Amino acid sequence: MIRLRLLSALFISSVWGLTGCSEQPISHSVTAPDGGLSLNLRTDELGRIYFSLNDSGVPVIHDSRLGFAFANASSFTEDLSITAGAKSTNDTTWELPWGERRFVRDHHNEQSFRLSDGSRTITLRVRVFDEGAGFRFEFPEEFHSGELLITDELTQFDIANPSDKTFWNPAYNKDRYEYEYFETSVADVKTAHTPLTILDSTNRYVTLHEASLIDYSSMVLRGTNSRMLNGELVAGYDGVRVRQTGPFATPWRTIQVTDTAAELLASNMILNLNEPNKLGDVSWVKPGIYMGIWWGMHLGENSWATGETLGATTAEAKRYIDFISEHGLDGFLVEGWNIGWDGNWIANADLFSFTQAQPFFDLEEVAAYAQEKNVDLVLHNETSGGIKNYEDQMEEAYALYQKLGVNHLKTGYVGFSNGYPRHDVHANEDDQHLVYEWNHGQFMVNHYQKSIELAAKYKIGINMHEPIKPTGLRRTYPNFMTREGVRGQEYNAWSEGNQPAHTTILPFTRMMGGPLDFTPGVFDVTFKGIDASERIRTTIAKQLALMVVLYSPLQMAADLPRNYASKPDLFQFIKDVPADWEESLPLEGEIGEYVVYARQERGSNNWFIGGITNEDARSVTLDFSFLGESSYQATVYRDGLEADWETNPYDAVIETLTITANSTLDVRMAKGGGFAISLIEQ
Ligand code: NOJ
Ligand code: CA
Repeated sequence: MIRLRLLSALFISSVWGLTGCSEQPISHSVTAPDGGLSLNLRTDELGRIYFSLNDSGVPVIHDSRLGFAFANASSFTEDLSITAGAKSTNDTTWELPWGERRFVRDHHNEQSFRLSDGSRTITLRVRVFDEGAGFRFEFPEEFHSGELLITDELTQFDIANPSDKTFWNPAYNKDRYEYEYFETSVADVKTAHTPLTILDSTNRYVTLHEASLIDYSSMVLRGTNSRMLNGELVAGYDGVRVRQTGPFATPWRTIQVTDTAAELLASNMILNLNEPNKLGDVSWVKPGIYMGIWWGMHLGENSWATGETLGATTAEAKRYIDFISEHGLDGFLVEGWNIGWDGNWIANADLFSFTQAQPFFDLEEVAAYAQEKNVDLVLHNETSGGIKNYEDQMEEAYALYQKLGVNHLKTGYVGFSNGYPRHDVHANEDDQHLVYEWNHGQFMVNHYQKSIELAAKYKIGINMHEPIKPTGLRRTYPNFMTREGVRGQEYNAWSEGNQPAHTTILPFTRMMGGPLDFTPGVFDVTFKGIDASERIRTTIAKQLALMVVLYSPLQMAADLPRNYASKPDLFQFIKDVPADWEESLPLEGEIGEYVVYARQERGSNNWFIGGITNEDARSVTLDFSFLGESSYQATVYRDGLEADWETNPYDAVIETLTITANSTLDVRMAKGGGFAISLIEQ
């Protein structure tokens, strides 16, 4: 023990001597299976607890504090001791029922530690993987009697090698997660949602996030004008951040650290830090490509409300179902089918019915027609954040959908800032006044969870809009298929739109949490004219590429049928591309610059490749050595020589060639462009 401490002290002084941090002995260390990363714990002379993270001896996170403060118990921040508990190694492989890959290896070293203030104890569980580390706190029943009110979780992240390449999405804003990412120094982070990703000054990718967010409020990161980012739990309306009755565990606090972009994108750590599937047989959860009565509303051609331009009529639904079935796609989304859209639907959340269709839409007839045509009906529930109205109807609605054979539901929670109403939990029965919550605090986290669990009971897969950020719960609840939680394609329809770099940042940030319903695949990228500010800032080839790059098990082909019908050659790619994968290989990329993905279709040897770039043109050389022995017929959909998102977005070239594992191929992407390739085994 003494020798170990001495060694640690020597090691620490050699590392920290360089950075000017105070020299304190590491008391405990958990190292990755490959020996690279190590998460270290220590206390200082005041009994405060710190963790740090090193990568092969190089600090990634300097000493960062851990601890808790409570409204109704003394704080757990000082006079603490650490006692090492059991150590174990896990090396198992498990199967995803659907996903970006079938098999996931979970290889990590684990150790638990008892943190004690003499009378109370919390377990700190640490897992270190080759590509990152996670830790969570486990509160035993006896920590506190009755409800424990957490007012602060101290967790900090002292970024050892800060850089100007810190990519973050602002927290506590009106439109939830629907913003383009800031690229700033660590010191300039204000408050950020996670995942937040830094390409640090040692050229390591560092992603901060959390895994398995259940019955807790989400953690945002508050900047401090320095390299320190403070974890902050989102507060409830009364200032309490989390209410819990023991025993309970916090979500995992996660730090992924890799040398390359491709390694970061390949990480399964967030999924590995979630519990296994709790739903048993989930063969009813069906991935697929869907179209919908949707984009027309965002373009203003159709309305959700009844009237001349009403989108959701029985006839229009059948027309869509025919088109989808004719072209072999999988699903059909319909918005505006139910009562509640007339008037100001955002303000009138309580007027929504989730069981009654408006008079021009025959729900039973459309559901039966979809079944007859082998098309999955994706119904839509917009709640406008009216949680009570929704919870009052949820069970009846889901039961009805199951009866009608509907097994996909898109939910929506349009509400703003901390404006999600609930009844005051402290009020007595005669005083049921409303109070308001953030959509990423504990109250809403619990609502979203209720919806997922109830949907599972009725065998319904969920695509959630205005959701809570993804933390890997799709492993535990495989019907939590996909979600928005991003500034998606819809912003291109009615705002100043998304910059070309946006989608090259998403895989490294938002998508580190999980799948994304971005709604790609729009062919008419200049629907209001090429010079209009409402337009899509990509080439048409990049829209195809996004179908591969932006993984979603329910992947939307978002454009109108007429726009696909007018470009059958390009539409062929959308008809061929699946939404469920045997394997996914991030081939190369850099955050904010470009990304190239190769994905193998689930249950087949066919592969699909997508590459996208930001506003810069660039070329990549594809090496197909990941292919097996077969020969493939490749169809390449790429930018033409004159293509440019701004001036010539429709210049696209389609080529067919034969590809084997020995082939290489140079592909040029135009400004704001990309390419898609289907590789069909011959
Ligand atoms: C916002 C969602 O993101 C969008 O997909 C939906 O069409 C509207 N809300 C209406 O519910
Ligand atoms: Ca939205």
